[in-house]
Amino acid sequence: MSDRKILLLGGAGYVGTVLTSHLLKKGYKVRALDNFIYENEFAVQPYFGDPDYEFMKGDITNEADLQKAVEGVTDVVILAGLVGDPITKKYPEASEKINTKGVQDCIDYLNGKGLDKVIFVSTCSNYGLIGEDELADENFKLNPLSLYATAKVEGEKQLLGMKEEADFTGTVLRFATAFGLSPRMRFDLTVSEFARDLFFGKELLVYDEHTWRPYCHLRDFSRLIEMVIEADKEKVKFEVFNAGGDVNNFTKKMIVDEVLNHVTNGKVVYNSKGSDPRNYRVSFKKVKDVLGFEPKFTVEEGIMELVEALKAGLYADSVNNLDKYGNYQIDYQ
Ligand SMILES: NC(=O)c1ccc[n+]([C@@H]2O[C@H](COP(=O)([O-])OP(=O)(O)OC[C@H]3O[C@@H](n4cnc5c(N)ncnc54)[C@H](O)[C@@H]3O)[C@@H](O)[C@H]2O)c1
Repeated sequence: MSDRKILLLGGAGYVGTVLTSHLLKKGYKVRALDNFIYENEFAVQPYFGDPDYEFMKGDITNEADLQKAVEGVTDVVILAGLVGDPITKKYPEASEKINTKGVQDCIDYLNGKGLDKVIFVSTCSNYGLIGEDELADENFKLNPLSLYATAKVEGEKQLLGMKEEADFTGTVLRFATAFGLSPRMRFDLTVSEFARDLFFGKELLVYDEHTWRPYCHLRDFSRLIEMVIEADKEKVKFEVFNAGGDVNNFTKKMIVDEVLNHVTNGKVVYNSKGSDPRNYRVSFKKVKDVLGFEPKFTVEEGIMELVEALKAGLYADSVNNLDKYGNYQIDYQ
């Protein structure tokens, strides 16, 4: 048992629910705050009734909600927001309110509350487009190409700029693109989208198949967050870590080929002029050297896990019920 109580802002999401399971299993107490912006209430149902779990419906842009949520917790993980380029492009005003102003005000609010660690979950998308033979480490120039990544860069700046004055230890984790099963399943992410579409026999249109991205399993992200929570402050204090592992730097074509090893009759069409120019290979040396973190799950294993779940019929409704399985639609003032 741990005496720590971790507040997960955005705890009902794809990452937050798997992280909840992990932390509860490891003996932490968890409080999740979420506004169910995708009507994703169903995702927290497995945790209700667990004496170590508390849920608060609330919004990170509302200071009264934050005040209640922070009371009695030792550490905070900031996950909340509109996640992904398409949803932020579709709702620029909500994105500005939540991802830009909301996150920055929230980070500011957390100062002076006697917290131990504050972890801001950012993204490797911040690197944008980089040269073919380059590898982005944490000091690589950031080149955010979307509203989504621009807000993340601003959030990082806000946290890192508080180094001298903050009473907490702040850490930025730049997540690779996630894969893996979750109570709040998302099929709007590359690995799961490719696996689902090929499994159901839909012709998959893949743009710019040779572009690289890093990927990481949700269970590995959860372990990493626990490692940061438990780390010596000196190691993580206002540090930025790329979160993932070199083994999971993949091109889209490599993902398709791997899915096709497990799905018969998959149909793929390649097109070289996509609207998403992101291409980045990322170095995960620092997180390995400083924290000893390496992923346990490969993209291949993630694909097998997905295909098994699809074969078992778990996501039979995911083609006709798109909104339930991704970040497409919000109703937010
Ligand atoms: N999924 C990925 O591939 C990936 C990659 C890099 C970084 N990240 C980061 O990880 C974090 C979690 O991503 P995810 O995939 O779980 O996304 P998600 O959309 O599944 O989860 C986000 C959660 O935040 C909640 N939320 C939105 N606005 C809120 C608000 N104003 N107040 C309270 N809650 C609010 C949503 O209801 C949702 O439950 C995000 O910060 C994201 O930027 C994710």
